Amino acid sequence: MRSSMLWLVLAHVVGWSGLAQALTGDVEVGEALANQHCVACHGPGGVGLGPIPSLAGMQAESFQETMKLLRSGKRESTTMGQLSAEMTDQQFADLAAYFSGLEPVTDPLEVQRLHHVSAAACQWCHEDIYRQWAGSMHAKSTALRDPIHEMMYRQEVGDPREEGQLHQRSQRYPVCLQCHAPNAAKDGSTKLDAMAAYSEGVNCVACHQISGYKGVRGEGGALRLGLPAYETSSVLQGPTGYPFDKVRAFEGSDDAGNPHFDKLDAFGQRVSATLPLQGNPSMLRGNDLCLGCHHLRPNPQGVPLCATGDEFEASGAQVTCQSCHMPIADGVAHHGMAGGHDVAQLARAVQLIVDLEPIENGVRANVVMQNQLPHKMPTGAPFRNVQVKVTALDENGKVLWENYTDDPQKEAPDAYLFYQLADDEGKPAMPPVATQVGVDSRLGPHERRVLTYEIPVKPAVVRAEMFYNLVFKGMKPNVMKYTDDETLLEPKRMAFFEARVTP
Ligand code: HEC
Ligand code: HEC
Ligand code: HEC
Ligand code: HEC
Ligand code: HEC
Ligand code: HEC
Repeated sequence: MRSSMLWLVLAHVVGWSGLAQALTGDVEVGEALANQHCVACHGPGGVGLGPIPSLAGMQAESFQETMKLLRSGKRESTTMGQLSAEMTDQQFADLAAYFSGLEPVTDPLEVQRLHHVSAAACQWCHEDIYRQWAGSMHAKSTALRDPIHEMMYRQEVGDPREEGQLHQRSQRYPVCLQCHAPNAAKDGSTKLDAMAAYSEGVNCVACHQISGYKGVRGEGGALRLGLPAYETSSVLQGPTGYPFDKVRAFEGSDDAGNPHFDKLDAFGQRVSATLPLQGNPSMLRGNDLCLGCHHLRPNPQGVPLCATGDEFEASGAQVTCQSCHMPIADGVAHHGMAGGHDVAQLARAVQLIVDLEPIENGVRANVVMQNQLPHKMPTGAPFRNVQVKVTALDENGKVLWENYTDDPQKEAPDAYLFYQLADDEGKPAMPPVATQVGVDSRLGPHERRVLTYEIPVKPAVVRAEMFYNLVFKGMKPNVMKYTDDETLLEPKRMAFFEARVTP
């Protein structure tokens, strides 16, 4: 702070200030910029902790002037010169409008809002992890970025860009956001484009603020879904943490840029980190971190829509979700969190084999499916479904026989793995209105299932394939209203096996 004052005084003396007309800034644009580019060092809400100056309440004109001096290098700096090199005067004005409107702070900890910190603040240093996360469904979990979710959210709630929306049936704050946009839920907001930390859905701080797990089943059977199932902290939670006595001199050290360390200031005094972090292996290295959002979710009538956690518990498996969903790649835990949207992940779900036995006039094919997973396959959202296609071919690849041509549900019900919800009469019903479970033909955790077909022809090859669909056929036109991505809903071939008939 002191050095900047000095520079401002100098600026006046030397006459740099007032050369350019001050521009008018836009507070919202400024806030977005600040949450993306400044928050990692200057703290949430412009409240710097430690040696980095607070920006909250800085007078708008001197802010812009300071930024210009830093950009031009006329004011020396460790990082700010480089950081502002590409920025425009208009951006300075927008940032000035935002920071000048904030209350200068007396008690920094009180206004620290970890859940407002955008993933872009972490991108700077955690580039690979950021990229992996940005491609994941966690980064696209809101109705602003996921067309399948948007379709249902608009049906059940309303406009994701409007404040004050209610879940229509319950007339309550939309429970969806407790899992799909937890940072907005923390503020009770439904305007998901209000800040990056909302529209980013399950972003870095959404997970790394989780410090404890209370469970989804509260006292008296009341459900706590998503955020309410957790305890959260204003300190980042990491899998390892740092030794308590680890401090770093700010300048000239290898860890100078590490905002998680406490620092020693010029007088050797210890000052708190801008983004303090503590080790919490029992959360970060265990299933509990995932289960608040992934355990189960019933509809208002109590019918389970998804129950990945229940499935997992029933399987008795000891392996963690992270071991499959966050494999180590290039030295870090991969944050791509692949699931049903990812064909490479799907390919690892089932061991598919075809055994052939000769029979009179043909061949008997045993199609063996071994679910490799400690949860169902498909798991999750109640409209995921898998079709098992079996084809007998001659030497030239001509199809001689197939278990279905068009609709497996009608022609080969065994070959259709799906979860169907039903109404009182047992007729198929959409998730929000269903009153009972209709059919559940998905593979159970670790289940081995054999489909047997007596094929009345003499083929050269019998081929089995599994095709995964994110939604039921009938839902496709509705989802396509919200996206141009033609490939999103195409069936994905997740498994393939060919057995040759030995003459
Ligand atoms: C990597 C950490 C880092 C980031 C990110 C960062 N700053 Fe800084 N900022 C500093 C440091 C350190 C200083 C002290 C001067 C120096 O050594 O560069 C500073 C100083 C400043 C000052 C001078 C304040 C004063 O009173 O002296 C302003 C204004 C400022 N930063 C604005 C910003 C804005 C706006 C952003 C986002 C666009 C930003 N900074 C992003 C580290 C950072
Ligand atoms: C200015 C650079 C910088 C920024 C910004 C930054 N980090 Fe870090 N972070 C580091 C460094 C350096 C390490 C230590 C080396 C490593 O593990 O990559 C680290 C480590 C971590 C760890 C692992 C700690 C452990 O317990 O093993 C987590 C988790 C983490 N950061 C989360 C975040 C999140 C979330 C953000 C954004 C809110 C963030 N970081 C922003 C530099 C940064
Ligand atoms: C704050 C809630 C929350 C937490 C914590 C969370 N998730 Fe998720 N996860 C979601 C939401 C919401 C989606 C769905 C996004 C969508 O498709 O709209 C999702 C999607 C996924 C998917 C991808 C599904 C697909 O359609 O491809 C996988 C896999 C996944 N999560 C695994 C995990 C694992 C493993 C953990 C723990 C390490 C975890 N999640 C923690 C909320 C959460
Ligand atoms: C769905 C929850 C979730 C989200 C979202 C998430 N993380 Fe993580 N992160 C974890 C878990 C769990 C681990 C620990 C993995 C392990 O040790 O098995 C972890 C580990 C890390 C580590 C340590 C990596 C290592 O291998 O040592 C860093 C750094 C980190 N996260 C940064 C980030 C950043 C930056 C973002 C946003 C771009 C982010 N995380 C988003 C759950 C999450
Ligand atoms: C043995 C590896 C493995 C383990 C352990 C595992 N999963 Fe999965 N998971 C997969 C594979 C492979 C898929 C893709 C197939 C599917 O969707 O069923 C998947 C799919 C998912 C999906 C995507 C559902 C969708 O709608 O797209 C979610 C969510 C999920 N897993 C959550 C979890 C959670 C939570 C845990 C821990 C309780 C866990 N998984 C443990 C391998 C694993
Ligand atoms: C308890 C947490 C939780 C709540 C509450 C919740 N969801 Fe989800 N939702 C998830 C998770 C986790 C996934 C992704 C993994 C899976 O398929 O289970 C998901 C997936 C979805 C999908 C599929 C997205 C895709 O990309 O295929 C839709 C649609 C959806 N949710 C709609 C809603 C709506 C609408 C609400 C509110 C009425 C809601 N959800 C409430 C956790 C939740």
